[in-house]
Amino acid sequence: MRYTNIFIPTTKEIPSDAVLPSHKYLLKAGFVCSTGSGLYDYLPLGKIVLDNIKNIVKNNMDKAKANEISLSFVTPLKLWEQSGRIEDMGQEMLKFKDRHQNNFVLSPTNEEAVVTVVKNRIKSYKHLPVNLYQINTKFRDEVRPRFGILRAREFLMKDAYSFSDSQECLQQQFDIMETTYKNILNEMGLKYKVVKADSGAIGGDGSLEFHIVANSGEDTIVVCMDCEFGANIETMEDIDDKLNETPYNELENINIQQKCSCGGKLVFKKGIEVGHIFQLKDKYSKALDATFLDSNGKQQHFMMGCYGMGISRIIAAAVEQNHDDKGAIWPLNLTPYKVCIIVSNGKDNTQQKVATDISNTLEKAGISNIIDDRVKERFGFKMADFELIGYPYAIVVGKNIADGKVEIVDRKTLEKSICDIDKILETVLSNFNT
Ligand SMILES: Nc1ncnc2c1ncn2[C@@H]1O[C@H](COP(=O)(O)OP(=O)(O)OP(=O)(O)O)[C@@H](O)[C@H]1O
Ligand SMILES: [Mg+2]
Ligand SMILES: [Zn+2]
Repeated sequence: MRYTNIFIPTTKEIPSDAVLPSHKYLLKAGFVCSTGSGLYDYLPLGKIVLDNIKNIVKNNMDKAKANEISLSFVTPLKLWEQSGRIEDMGQEMLKFKDRHQNNFVLSPTNEEAVVTVVKNRIKSYKHLPVNLYQINTKFRDEVRPRFGILRAREFLMKDAYSFSDSQECLQQQFDIMETTYKNILNEMGLKYKVVKADSGAIGGDGSLEFHIVANSGEDTIVVCMDCEFGANIETMEDIDDKLNETPYNELENINIQQKCSCGGKLVFKKGIEVGHIFQLKDKYSKALDATFLDSNGKQQHFMMGCYGMGISRIIAAAVEQNHDDKGAIWPLNLTPYKVCIIVSNGKDNTQQKVATDISNTLEKAGISNIIDDRVKERFGFKMADFELIGYPYAIVVGKNIADGKVEIVDRKTLEKSICDIDKILETVLSNFNT
């Protein structure tokens, strides 16, 4: 890819409510723009990151033997009347009428719809378990849409729903999803915690949240320094409600007397919820009377699990966890391009030629890259764009091509190193592996 062929509308003009790094940088660097409160458009760079996330999620869900489907974004209000969930969803659910005065809803989640799909289509235990998932638009009329795409009104979610014939089978499906979520977040290169979540009115112990640890997180979580334990403070009885408003730097200094059951030290952290997995059991299959015949020929209600992941929220969460005061720093598997090849002087045809050759070499090795071939922009300006957008590496093609050399810049440390042009591929690859 070349700068001269791609639409990257970087801007200094951002709204005053853009205070979080991810909100600021994603707007400034031209990943997204907004047409109204909680409504976002994904521009070319944002769309590439979104697709990278979708692909990682899809590959891992497919590996877990889940089947991808796509449910209608618009659902009849009738479904929500049947499940009795209209009250619970409250104002977050956007309702409207068609020309015949029929009532509809923009899907905020899809339990009712997916139960309706399975009902009377899966009739026997022999066809269970089944896990159906989609990566699809959701609409929630949030009271306070804020922080850009972290809490939008229209957003992209991966939602999966498993159907089992017993609690044991549901537990297996749930465990598979827990492992799958860990694999997904590891592949994305994000630091996360799996925490016990408040299972609210539904009860049961089968609810886990996946949090990206970041200073700006809306949730306060408590985690063990020595083992895997973590919990959302919502679940802890003796915890002060004010903790949620405590800034992270004060939180970190709070000494927790209580020890983890493993004996380890507990600490508070801020987290961004990117996933939530839940054992629904027969809540919705009962409400919508969806049954199958068990091995004794008896009718039973499906045992269900549901598994949500905030696809678009992960873009912002990745930036919250990975940035500095100049801009974003993308993890290798999420970045729009792995390498930015900066032509120091765009008017210099030899530099342009060397940059093109390097780009072809990387391309052949499957390393996505973009050439900053702009003629009118000065080197400093291009460097500032590289830092703002946050590609993991830059290769600067400048005067020292005369000696057969270029410079490699590591976005994370901003350290520069000189490299022989004919060793560029192995050098870039060895950088990826450290
Ligand atoms: N308004 C939103 N904008 C972007 N992503 C969202 C939004 N609401 C939820 N998500 C994502 O969808 C996932 C599954 O939805 P779920 O209903 O479990 O969220 P939730 O409990 O309402 O989240 P939150 O507590 O942040 O409102 C969440 O883990 C989150 O990553
Ligand atoms: Mg919510
Ligand atoms: Zn512990």
